[in-house]
Amino acid sequence: MTEQPVLVETRGRVGVITLHRPKQLNALNDALMDQLGAALLALDADTGIGAIVITGSAKAFAAGADIEAMADWSFMDVCQSGFITRNWETIRQVRKPVLAAVAGYAMGGGCELALACDIIVAAASAKFALPEIKLAMLPGAGGTQRLPRAIGKAKAMDMCLSARMLDAQEADRYGLVSRVVPDTELLSQTLALADQIAAFSLPALWAIKAAVNRAWESPLSEGILFERHALYERFASADAHEGMHAFLAKRPPDFQHR
Ligand code: CAA
Repeated sequence: MTEQPVLVETRGRVGVITLHRPKQLNALNDALMDQLGAALLALDADTGIGAIVITGSAKAFAAGADIEAMADWSFMDVCQSGFITRNWETIRQVRKPVLAAVAGYAMGGGCELALACDIIVAAASAKFALPEIKLAMLPGAGGTQRLPRAIGKAKAMDMCLSARMLDAQEADRYGLVSRVVPDTELLSQTLALADQIAAFSLPALWAIKAAVNRAWESPLSEGILFERHALYERFASADAHEGMHAFLAKRPPDFQHR
């Protein structure tokens, strides 16, 4: 039987996707990215799921796009097939929170995949780099765009132009990751965080994710307008009334995700 490059399981309201090409350090080939996209869309559509975790192995979250697969592609090959656009960008359609649990190498496309997630929990062993320059390539899965937005132009230029690798502590200091945890607790702490998030009202999570992403992509005035409409929409939500009344009654809320 051929090995599946992506493993999917559900734990309560959390969907867990494990990248699984151990011999290639989870290098991201088409089969893996197709399955990752399909798994993300299926979990996003599942009403029993409130948050999604993507993780890799202890040695590598992912070592980047599959260099062996790409080495002989031509310009027309990538144009015609819509490389990256076709399957890597599926993650942008996901409305639920996506958490990356990163141990070991997150390099090139692996770093870019983590950057496309909403929260990055890094194990102490995590290492982040965009080393495409060493191949005379370019970070082409959002790296040149998301990295400067995440850590600023100076640090992003340093990483992209010199292939500088950041350890977890540096990545935390620069704002590339959300939290750093011991390696032995990476999955348990990420799942606990995902559980906590998934218990909140799903429509409120959708709205917050969309509003924060809007901050990346638009001028402040437009973002504020988007946020204001998102806030007004909360008043059409049964969960929002339940949340506020539960607070006032000093009882836990009973969210119906509506
Ligand atoms: N693609 C294909 N195979 C890869 C790979 C990749 N990105 N990264 C590692 N592998 C393979 C290696 O070829 C090796 O295979 P063999 O056992 O058959 O030789 C196996 O995985 C183990 O790798 P190493 O022996 O190199 O392991 P290491 O511990 O010595 O080094 C590493 C680990 C530093 C991550 C090193 O493997 C490495 O530098 N990998 C390449 C990282 C890289 O350049 N990523 C960017 C890719 S381009 C990209 O991502 C473009 C984009 O933006 C979309």
